[in-house]
Amino acid sequence: MRLSDRVVIVTGAGRGIGRAYALGLAAEGARVVAADVLDCKPVGTEIETRGGQALAVACDVSREADTQRLATETLARFGRIDALVNNAALYGNLKRRPFMEIPVEEWDQVMAVNLRGLFLCSRAVFPAMKAQGKGVIVNISSSTFFKGVPDYIHYTTSKGGVVGFTRSLARELGPHGIRVNALAPGFTLSGENEKNISEERKRFNLESRMLKRAEMPEDLVGTLVYLVSDDSAFMSGQTLLVDGGGSVH
Ligand SMILES: NC(=O)c1ccc[n+]([C@@H]2O[C@H](COP(=O)([O-])OP(=O)(O)OC[C@H]3O[C@@H](n4cnc5c(N)ncnc54)[C@H](O)[C@@H]3O)[C@@H](O)[C@H]2O)c1
Repeated sequence: MRLSDRVVIVTGAGRGIGRAYALGLAAEGARVVAADVLDCKPVGTEIETRGGQALAVACDVSREADTQRLATETLARFGRIDALVNNAALYGNLKRRPFMEIPVEEWDQVMAVNLRGLFLCSRAVFPAMKAQGKGVIVNISSSTFFKGVPDYIHYTTSKGGVVGFTRSLARELGPHGIRVNALAPGFTLSGENEKNISEERKRFNLESRMLKRAEMPEDLVGTLVYLVSDDSAFMSGQTLLVDGGGSVH
């Protein structure tokens, strides 16, 4: 139980990897706030059935009022905020297409969720973490930024932005005892995204890895727990790539 009683918000926890993060953090003793535009009650119920504590909050991370309410509801229920996992993103349903075919509105939507969402959620939790003199923020990036994946330029660009955001925020918040790191998964079989990628591209992802197997959401949980826990207490501003050695940095 490396996270006993820690209060951890996970955005985008309604399905896919975010759901696995929520369950994995709860298994380490964390009290989990599962936030999503999707209904997070099933995840919350699953955590409680396993003996943990959870709160489900409806939240669109691109809307400032929603992110403020997320922090307020977390504090009302649990009284503190130890960690924020910025996992929500426009990803699984996002169509892959050449950059000339991406509608300008879609570019803006991706930036609003994948980048403004981090900005707003981090601002919402900062006052509580500052008052505590301690906190952890983990931002979810992607190996696509390290590879330069084609036909996905808005997504890849946003995930590069996550690395820049992480470094700058870590510098600003370090003096308050708040650590900020990023976790970059490789292509992971997370459900929705599997419909959105060709078999050829899936095979290429697998074959280009040092470790020759598919990546599953559970492969990411150990690294997330490490980043949230005191095991990484002297680490900030860093990005850990967990992709079976598909890329190096
Ligand atoms: N699966 C992969 O191969 C992979 C690889 C690298 C990085 N990632 C990243 O990991 C994270 C999770 O990926 P996934 O595969 O589970 O994706 P997914 O698309 O299945 O899940 C994303 C979740 O975010 C939620 N979400 C979307 N917009 C939101 C908004 N405005 N407010 C709140 N929630 C919102 C969705 O409802 C969904 O539950 C994402 O940040 C993704 O970019 C995934």
